[in-house]
Amino acid sequence: MYTEKVIDHFTNPRNVGEIPDADGIGDVGNAVCGDTTKITIKVEDNRIKDIKFKTFGCGAAIATSSMLTEMVIGMTLEEALQVDDVAVADMLGGLPEQKMHCSNMAAHALHTAIEDYKKKQG
Ligand code: FES
Ligand code: FES
Repeated sequence: MYTEKVIDHFTNPRNVGEIPDADGIGDVGNAVCGDTTKITIKVEDNRIKDIKFKTFGCGAAIATSSMLTEMVIGMTLEEALQVDDVAVADMLGGLPEQKMHCSNMAAHALHTAIEDYKKKQG
């Protein structure tokens, strides 16, 4: 039911952890299952310089978080804000329909982290 890419990112997730001196933090929960994702970012020259995630959730949630971090490194904040759950699922070769809601968390956490960064900039 999962593509090879999903299984790869689930079994070998990229960019796991937390940036200690993060410029922006996004901590979100999934209303459906109660799982959570925390994303921390470093920003330089309006670009995502570094990003790490911590996800307490199912395989699909971990795979989408991992994929998302690889996609957005180097992007401008504006570009990163365009990346949504559908874009991440597409990069993974698709997700089972009943798991699409698990992919919301990563994009939502990233957008929250970017908003947090902007707020701190004033
Ligand atoms: Fe919770 Fe998928 S079951 S994120
Ligand atoms: Fe629980 Fe996706 S949020 S199955």
